[in-house]
Amino acid sequence: MKSKNAARAILVFTVLSLIAPGCRKNVSTDRKNLKNEPAPSSLYANKMNQRLARSVNLGNALEAPNEGDWGMIIRKEYLDSIAAVGFTAVRIPIKWSAHASKQNPFTVNPAFFNRVDEVVSWSLEAGLNAIVDFHHYDELTANPSEHKDRWLGIWGQISVHFKNAPDSIFFELLNEPHDKLTSDLWNRYLAEAIDLIRQDNPTRMIISGPVNWNAFDQLNVLVLPPDTMLIATFHYYLPFHFTHQGAGWVDGSDAWLGTTWSGTDNEKKALEDDFSIAVNWGKTYNRPIFLGEFGAYSKADSLSRLRWTTFVRETAESANIAWAYWEFGAGFGIYDREQNRWRDGLLHALIPL
Ligand code: BGC
Repeated sequence: MKSKNAARAILVFTVLSLIAPGCRKNVSTDRKNLKNEPAPSSLYANKMNQRLARSVNLGNALEAPNEGDWGMIIRKEYLDSIAAVGFTAVRIPIKWSAHASKQNPFTVNPAFFNRVDEVVSWSLEAGLNAIVDFHHYDELTANPSEHKDRWLGIWGQISVHFKNAPDSIFFELLNEPHDKLTSDLWNRYLAEAIDLIRQDNPTRMIISGPVNWNAFDQLNVLVLPPDTMLIATFHYYLPFHFTHQGAGWVDGSDAWLGTTWSGTDNEKKALEDDFSIAVNWGKTYNRPIFLGEFGAYSKADSLSRLRWTTFVRETAESANIAWAYWEFGAGFGIYDREQNRWRDGLLHALIPL
């Protein structure tokens, strides 16, 4: 992919390299005593985060073992329509690990890379920003030390592949680290991945979030390197019994069917208190925040879904948190792919008229 903004990128890099230690090469990798420090500057990152202000996840497509396995295949007209109704970006969950060789150098299947390119190009052509997200690397979270080199090896290829691409492409290091990927390990791994990506993408925006499935209350153990071109992310699905009622992949969730969200003072306060933890962390560490996933599954009653979705979106926006709804056209979907039309209520909970 050729950069349309090469001259601008060089200028931005020159300016930023003066204020951003983390974007220079030869950054120290000696991070034995990891400790979070406020970012040296957040001007550029805040500006870039605003490009993600209103985003939607293209979920259930490229993060399935194979695109289509979960019923969703991304089409060009979806991207055009997403841009036309007012979204600013798409987050593209991608199961890279299912399309790369198991042996070093962990080559990504060229046909799969082409397909990712196609979806990214459709997004950019529609005027959207695009997040290339490393999704569902379950073996890495189950067995970090055995899979770390492969994860980095795949990132090395992604990084080279997009090195000349426009700044409207963002990288997200790993969706929802959890399980054996403890915060101590994850903080080291993410720093290594950032150093690696910076070799070819000195100014690319990189998104990363905390352990326990990107939980807001684990931000306090997230350590980001002193690189100014980072965005911190968290996911929000609380109350979980409401958002995941009847979700086939969550054991026992049928018992939660009928759980409502009425927007009582107590319900709103719980949500605002949660968000204020993320907001305060962002202020303390001088980092922009991106709510990379939130949504309520379609088995919840529709009025509750509308109320909850509206309130999460408003709470995020009033705190300057960029967001991406989970997701476009499947079980949480705001778009009905059979009828080829938006679900207007949910759409306008996100993009008010
Ligand atoms: C997972 C999806 C899931 C969603 C809500 C995402 O991070 O990748 O599979 O549907 O969270 O649970």
